[in-house]
Amino acid sequence: MDVLSVVGARPQFVKAAAVSQQLRGEHDERLVHTGQHYDTELSAVFFDELALPEPEFHLGVGSDSHARQTAAMMTELERIIDDESPDVVLVYGDTNSTLAGALVAAKSSPLLAHVEAGLRSHDWSMPEEVNRRLTDHCSDLLFTPGPHAKATLEQEGITDGVFVTGDVMYDTLLQIRDRLHTHGTEESDVPDEYVLATVHRAKNTDNQDRLESIIDAFEHLDTPVVFPAHPRTVAALREYGLWERTAAATHVIEPVNYGRFITLVEGATCVATDSGGVQKEAFYLDTPCVTLRETTEWIETVDAGWNVLVGADTDQIVDAVRAAADPPAKPDLYGSGNAATRIVRHLEQQVES
Ligand code: UD1
Ligand code: UDP
Repeated sequence: MDVLSVVGARPQFVKAAAVSQQLRGEHDERLVHTGQHYDTELSAVFFDELALPEPEFHLGVGSDSHARQTAAMMTELERIIDDESPDVVLVYGDTNSTLAGALVAAKSSPLLAHVEAGLRSHDWSMPEEVNRRLTDHCSDLLFTPGPHAKATLEQEGITDGVFVTGDVMYDTLLQIRDRLHTHGTEESDVPDEYVLATVHRAKNTDNQDRLESIIDAFEHLDTPVVFPAHPRTVAALREYGLWERTAAATHVIEPVNYGRFITLVEGATCVATDSGGVQKEAFYLDTPCVTLRETTEWIETVDAGWNVLVGADTDQIVDAVRAAADPPAKPDLYGSGNAATRIVRHLEQQVES
């Protein structure tokens, strides 16, 4: 089987690491890095740490408007898919790199497979919601992290080629956690007790009131906030004149590598985030999560009592962080950490049939 995998942004490196490892043992995989993320700490560190193979194709598109960025990716991807004629094009998640891969593959001959299908925030103002819905609706094979996502696809009329496989991010997390527990973790200069925060969602960074309201909350918390800040957020904080206040109120640091980040999630009393992946990682690592959004595509974590949606309201954030505690039980929501194996088996069956 000949697979062309398309990645480009930080969360996709974490997802692809598990599947790529599984694929390369038994099949031919070529990796395309669109170049959507290019800073060392958002890209290269993940390839090194997660033993992702050097991409066979690097498109180097960089940052741009949504249309220009997606179009640049599509132009290059069309040429590569034509030249390489893979059996399957594999896309991950909900970024512009996902959509570019999906739109090109859907109009060419290979099967299009979407990992992390069926998720919905039901908030069309999020670019990710547009990307994931369009990708699902043109995919041949849809791998969902749980039964809820499969039911969502069914409601939208997508019933063929849908498989519940579990969450590939859980595969990667279990692997790195084993490694960290065996080899020890890096020395860390964080306080003993802390809240771990990440913010990068367009709705929060591109709106000064929302971002300021979140920083106000961090200022009001009794527990110190460790804040690995996305470059987009740093730029917004500087533009709005909030950088000095943020630096005084929090332990703001550069984005950290995956192992360090997982260690920080595990050690935190609470996570405050607008990330998609981090909500799940908090759940896997038994850390309560306060989500700085009004909606989430990982709704099962909210229903299970491990996650609370507070948006960007200062008081709500402060109250939720202060109240955060472990709920009594933790259900299995997104599989058992063998999603990559299951995905590869389904791909084999579909390609051979
Ligand atoms: C993208 C994804 C988002 C995902 C996030 C993961 C889309 C629409 N968004 O958001 O779903 O959650 O990645 O982190 O695909 N920048 C740098 N260095 C980089 C990359 C970006 O400084 O290596 C800055 C640039 O100023 C850029 C801005 O960040 O304009 C936004 O980057 P972009 O990739 O467009 O979106 P993200 O916010 O990273
Ligand atoms: N992450 C990381 N270092 C950081 C922040 C995040 O390694 O400083 C990892 C995190 O563990 C998760 C992934 O990056 O697996 C999530 O990426 P992000 O929050 O940027 O994207 P999203 O999941 O919201 O699409």
